[in-house]
Amino acid sequence: MNAKVLAVANQKGGVGKTTTCANLGIGLAREGKKVLLIDCDPQGSLSISLGNPQPDSIPTTLSTIMSKVITDTPLELKEGIITHAEGVDLLPANIELSGTEVGLVNTMSRESILKQYIETVKKDYQFILIDCMPSLGMLTVNALACADSVIIPVQAQYLPAKGLEQLLQTVAKVRKQINPKLNIDGILLTMVDNRTNFAKDIAALLRDTYGSKIKVFGTEIPHSVRAAETSAEGKSIYAHDPKGKVAEAYTNLTKEVIKIEKLRQKHKSDIGR
Ligand SMILES: Nc1ncnc2c1ncn2[C@@H]1O[C@H](COP(=O)(O)OP(=O)(O)OP(=O)(O)O)[C@@H](O)[C@H]1O
Ligand SMILES: [Mg+2]
Repeated sequence: MNAKVLAVANQKGGVGKTTTCANLGIGLAREGKKVLLIDCDPQGSLSISLGNPQPDSIPTTLSTIMSKVITDTPLELKEGIITHAEGVDLLPANIELSGTEVGLVNTMSRESILKQYIETVKKDYQFILIDCMPSLGMLTVNALACADSVIIPVQAQYLPAKGLEQLLQTVAKVRKQINPKLNIDGILLTMVDNRTNFAKDIAALLRDTYGSKIKVFGTEIPHSVRAAETSAEGKSIYAHDPKGKVAEAYTNLTKEVIKIEKLRQKHKSDIGR
């Protein structure tokens, strides 16, 4: 195995990054994939939404692991990894991660600390998903530096144009300076309210503006209170509301992501021939 590493990123807050990470991750596990989810946000929202309501009391987190990489301390097997009942592994995070981010300033190879960790676990998984925090700071740069691809959730209610431009510039910069193989798998419309035409307008606008360069996922995630309830339950949408439209949407997104990966593998082996 050699995991595909996906960063779920958007510096705008509350657009559905964490919800997508949890439900795409568990969606992939339901398709039989070996999945590691990495919480890369000091808020610990992904850790909370996967059943750890008090991340600040978790002893070993991404912060611990990154500090060990920085000081060149050997890691234990599966150190810090928590297994979720729905078949994914989680490396949690908590508030300590913000201290780690500050400390990166004085660290050698500060953009590639997370990458050094991921290299050690890549062989154990087929997909590694990184839940980024709402900023374009050092932690997000670390995620982009080790990712094969980015998924960009965009909340359909608001015109995302400006913020998106900034994110795309950061991706371009990381690609140029640190990680030339970084792709954008796509923009994902989230919290789509089908009672309004906004989502359709925004989807059309995104396709007009970026469509030639960036894929907009065919799947859109509908707005539903059911989705908002999952975090407190520590369960995925498949467990919380299996017949609902959000579960269906995340199942479809999972299939799209698997398809993209299959095409890429095929492309790679065609080139190799
Ligand atoms: N499809 C949905 N329908 C309704 N509510 C949703 C949906 N997806 C997510 N939410 C809710 O919207 C809020 C923001 O979602 P989420 O935490 O996934 O966003 P985020 O981008 O990770 O936020 P942050 O930038 O703070 O990390 C949460 O309260 C979540 O439960
Ligand atoms: Mg989040």
